[in-house]
Amino acid sequence: MTDNILEVRNLTKRFPIKGGIFGREVGAVKAVNDVSFSIKRGETLGLVGESGCGKTTLGRSLLRLIEPTAGEIIFNGQNIVDLNATHMREMRRKMQIIFQDPYASLNPRMTIGGILAEPMEIHNLFPGKEERRNRLYQLLDQVQLPKDTLNKYPHEFSGGQRQRICIARALAVEPEFIVCDEPVSALDVSVQAQVVNLLMDLQKDLGLTYLFIAHDLKVVEYISSRVAVMYLGNVIEVAESHELYGGARHPYTKALFSAIPKPNPNVHMDRILLEGDIPSPMNPPSGCHFHPRCWNATDKCREVYPEITNESETHQYKCHNPIRLN
Ligand SMILES: Nc1ncnc2c1ncn2[C@@H]1O[C@H](COP(=O)(O)OP(=O)(O)O)[C@@H](O)[C@H]1O
Ligand SMILES: [Mg+2]
Repeated sequence: MTDNILEVRNLTKRFPIKGGIFGREVGAVKAVNDVSFSIKRGETLGLVGESGCGKTTLGRSLLRLIEPTAGEIIFNGQNIVDLNATHMREMRRKMQIIFQDPYASLNPRMTIGGILAEPMEIHNLFPGKEERRNRLYQLLDQVQLPKDTLNKYPHEFSGGQRQRICIARALAVEPEFIVCDEPVSALDVSVQAQVVNLLMDLQKDLGLTYLFIAHDLKVVEYISSRVAVMYLGNVIEVAESHELYGGARHPYTKALFSAIPKPNPNVHMDRILLEGDIPSPMNPPSGCHFHPRCWNATDKCREVYPEITNESETHQYKCHNPIRLN
C-alpha cells in the first residue's frame, strides 16, 4: 500500500464568466490548471503563492466544496471525484477544512456547544448524552479552552480563541486530513505562533495530515515538511522546505523566497524584485505563464507550457530554463 493519503492528478477548476442578456459563457477564470501533487500520511504540505493564484480554490476543490472541472483526487486510494452526495458526505468526515476568517465561519446565534456538536450529529458520532458531553470536553481540552466555553457564544471570544473553536469543530468528526486555509493570517501576530504550535501538537498526537495554505513563508517553513509553490493556477515547484531556499529551480520560487530575511548571516541571498503585474487568470500568457516576468525566459518559454521535471523523489518543477547551482 502506498503511504500517500492524497494524490491529486491534473486537477483543473474553471469558473465560467457569463455575459450578455442570454447569460452565455463569454470566458473563464482558470483558477486551478492541471495541478498534480501528493501528500504523505502524517506530513504537512505547505502551499504558497501570491494572492489570487488559486490556493483557496485548490484547497476547497480537494474536499469538493468547489466541484473540480477535471482531474482526479485520490484519497486513501479512492477517487472521490466520482462519489455521489451520500458517499461524499461520509468521506468528508475524514477530510476537514479550517478557514481563514474565524469571525465569519462561526454561527453567531449558536452556542459553542451547539457548534461543536453539529458535525457529530450529522455523522451520528458519540450519540449518547454522556459520551457526547465527554467528547465536547475532550475537544475543548485538545484546543486548550476551558469547560465553560460550551455555553458561550462566538462574540465572547477573541480571534485566536475562535480559531481554536474552529479547529475543535474540525476535529469533532475525527478527520485524517485537514486543509488549513491561511488559518493564522487574520490573527494578531502575537497569537499566530500559539495557533500554529497547537496545530503542530495536534498533528503529532492525532496523526493528522495537513495541507497548510499561507502567504507568510516564514510560517510555512516552520510548519511544513514540503512546500508547493503556486503561480497563476499552476503548481510550479514542489520540494522539501529547506531545498527551496538555496536550491529553488524555478525563478519564481527563487524570487518569492529571496524576499524572506534569513537569520543565518552566512546564507546570502540577493533580494529579487519581480517586475510587472500578475497576469489575469482569465487570459494567461502563452507558454509558461511566468515568462513575462522571468529574467531567464527563452523563446521556448514563450511558446510551450513546461512539463513536470523530476529533480528527485521529493523535488519537482515546471520550467524550461531552471536555475542551476554552481
Ligand atoms: N466563485 C468564483 N467565481 C469566479 N472566480 C473566482 C471564484 N472564486 C475564485 N475566483 C478567482 O479565481 C482566482 C483564484 O482565487 P483564489 O483561489 O481565491 O486565490 P488565493 O486563495 O490564492 O488568493 C482569482 O482570480 C479569483 O478571482
Ligand atoms: Mg485564499
